[in-house]
Amino acid sequence: METAFATTATFPDRRMRRLRMTATLRSMVRETSLSKDDFIYPLFAVPGRNFRREVPSMPGVFQLSVDELVRECTEVHSLGIPAVILFGIPEHKDEFGSEAYSDNGVIQEAVRALKREIPELLVITDVCLCEYTSHGHCGIVRGDEIVNDESVELLVREAVSHAAAGADIVAPSDMFDGRVKAIRSALDENGFTNLPIMSYAAKYASGFYGPFRDAAESTPKFGDRRSHQMDPANADEAVREVELDILEGADIVMVKPALPYLDIIRRVKDTFHMPTAGYNVSGEYSMIKAAGRNGWIDEQRVMMEVLTSIKRAGADLILTYFAKDAARLL
Ligand code: PBG
Repeated sequence: METAFATTATFPDRRMRRLRMTATLRSMVRETSLSKDDFIYPLFAVPGRNFRREVPSMPGVFQLSVDELVRECTEVHSLGIPAVILFGIPEHKDEFGSEAYSDNGVIQEAVRALKREIPELLVITDVCLCEYTSHGHCGIVRGDEIVNDESVELLVREAVSHAAAGADIVAPSDMFDGRVKAIRSALDENGFTNLPIMSYAAKYASGFYGPFRDAAESTPKFGDRRSHQMDPANADEAVREVELDILEGADIVMVKPALPYLDIIRRVKDTFHMPTAGYNVSGEYSMIKAAGRNGWIDEQRVMMEVLTSIKRAGADLILTYFAKDAARLL
């Protein structure tokens, strides 16, 4: 078998440590470099004014009213972070998540305000119903089933409403079948042919979303998300999920969570060569924050190591609550 190495180049002729001896050499041969351009910063918008509440399980992450969100995004933008992704918490929740697709919903207001105040900041909207439904599920519930096709119709309305408000990218996070295709056609019909879709293409039913559900107040009141999100044990299935989203029109494909699924990020990148995003989710963030606060790990060092690993695995883009902290170090 052919090897990548010349056969003579073994110890003592070959000493791997030679290129590790100084910081300059190490940086010259470094294969992966993290950049602020890779980051997408997630934010939680709530109704009202002058409202800023820290999420107890996510130190440094806040629920923000639109005015506060604009202030926060001014800082995000000045740190050199190119993009944010917005999650909304409505005034009232109902069975059909009506505020998700109301043109006066909190996300629609937030997008309009951000595009008016900081037009250069790229605004992505998360398209899902779980934050907006009284039961906390991502779609319409009938009996004990979360129904697919009718829920997709609502997601389509939500995506078009976000686009009309001025969103730069829409990001469906529900994992229902056929939603990318439906959203693509509706965007096109409404004149948004140039608006990209970033699909949560391989999204796993993960315990790592716990803190997010506190932040977004979206914990399901009964049942779970296993009938639409993926089984953590599956990898081939992720490839099929991603392929379908690409065929349906996704422009960027996401793997979520990131850290326990680095193998999936790598496979998706190598298989499809698409712009690929990894979502370094809430639980991944909270674990590092908690251990750092306890003095059990060096928080900054571990943060940079984790973000680098996601990039090294093949992600072009990283959604991360660490974006501000990391940008300050870069
Ligand atoms: C669904 C959505 C979730 C996350 C992003 N979009 C939660 C879920 O599926 O329950 C999780 C993100 C995180 O944990 O940081 N709208």
